[in-house]
Amino acid sequence: MKILYAASEALPYASTGGLADVAGSLPKAVKNELGRDSDVRLVMPLYPQVRDKFAEQLELVCEINVRLSWRNQYCGIWKIESDGVIYYFIDNMYYFDRKTLYGCFDDAERFAFFSKCIIELMAAVNFYPDILHGNDWQTALAIIYLKRRFSHLPEYQHISTLFTIHNIDYQGIYDFNILSEVFELPEWDRNIVEYNGMINLLKGAVVCSDMVSTVSNTYAHEILTEYYSSGLHHILRQTEAEGRLTGIVNGIDVGYYNSESDPDIAANFSADDLAGKAEDKAELQKLCGFKVDPETPVIAMISRLAAHKGFDLVRHVLEEIIMKNDVQFVLLGTGETSLEEFFKDLAMRYPAKVCVKLEYNKVLSKKFYAGADMFLMPSKSEPCGLSQMIASRYGAVPIVRECGGLADTIQAYNEYEGTGNGFSFKNYNAHEMMKVIDYALAMYSDKSKWAQLVRNVMKVDFSWNVSAKKYIDIYSALL
Ligand code: GLC
Repeated sequence: MKILYAASEALPYASTGGLADVAGSLPKAVKNELGRDSDVRLVMPLYPQVRDKFAEQLELVCEINVRLSWRNQYCGIWKIESDGVIYYFIDNMYYFDRKTLYGCFDDAERFAFFSKCIIELMAAVNFYPDILHGNDWQTALAIIYLKRRFSHLPEYQHISTLFTIHNIDYQGIYDFNILSEVFELPEWDRNIVEYNGMINLLKGAVVCSDMVSTVSNTYAHEILTEYYSSGLHHILRQTEAEGRLTGIVNGIDVGYYNSESDPDIAANFSADDLAGKAEDKAELQKLCGFKVDPETPVIAMISRLAAHKGFDLVRHVLEEIIMKNDVQFVLLGTGETSLEEFFKDLAMRYPAKVCVKLEYNKVLSKKFYAGADMFLMPSKSEPCGLSQMIASRYGAVPIVRECGGLADTIQAYNEYEGTGNGFSFKNYNAHEMMKVIDYALAMYSDKSKWAQLVRNVMKVDFSWNVSAKKYIDIYSALL
């Protein structure tokens, strides 16, 4: 089986969020499962950080020119081979040599170019996959081009497509005046991408793809409703009725996120020997300028500061929580200015109880996970969520809202039976969240119960083993 996985970011090369984790670990897991008879490759843009950090491993495969509407652009194709997977990097400094991965004025053109390159790469390196697996709106046009423009060509005819939605809030919505000028789509393809009077790339990929998946079972159901779909529920209900929609919960790279061997944390530990975790907690308390006290519970949030991550709730009751409890709160992440300001202000007023680090920092995040007792993730919507699983690997007990992948990965703790791997609440309501935090804090003060819970949490299998097989089932069915 030949699979080409297309994504705009992948670890360890470039990352702004969960997509990079998945793109960096799923192809490897699939390769591992399928073994020698398979050929799994990935394609992503060559960003400056890849050029800088991986210069020695990058190998030039070929250089071609790629057309996009009236443009004729250079496209260098580089590769790195790692764990049996070939990673291709699309080189064009004009489009990809930027300070950020996204958020540029010409993102539409940049990722249209990337999408066109995905298709052209197949011919350039003579790798026509059985499956093209696209992810999110940045690769949506590759699925659309393949279906509408290339699938009649003999080399491309047999290629089936799977398109994965990692977060339906990001759809790639643009004005129609760039339909042919930037997206190189003819007038008769207008209806393919048309939604609500705009070009909607995600919608185009959903209608063109043989199969559509999203990153948890619960989210696959949720996006059929107006509340969660960001307007696309009509299209997705149709997709579901056609039997083309499914949900597969993400796994994480349990080799990378491993409290027993992680070199980035102060002390390693395991579910059966938590001594190291106490050291990590003390380190975190020092790092945050808090009193070092094993008895004081540390609640962490590591998240993009975006409204849908549940920050309205936090904003509403966090001050009350820290005032009435002996608790320390730490936050790591960047995002919306108003949220950054809110947390900065709180940290200034309660330096002994609140510490915020406004940055995206993988190494620091692991120190936070390892040092924290509880991990708060009260998302308004959460396609899958990886942090609750990562936190679990480091013995930080997740407190989540029951939605999307959070509902699929966290079972509420039952103190009488000793079952469950976290705490959860149902409604998007600040006081409901506060009540469950209060309950978690009460459980924390019972040492033996808490130790049992931490062990439960750490022992859940969040590896790709099960989910990689499910992807392979889809690939096989598509063949
Ligand atoms: C997006 C989603 C997140 C998911 C990740 C990987 O970042 O918001 O829930 O875990 O993609 O699929």
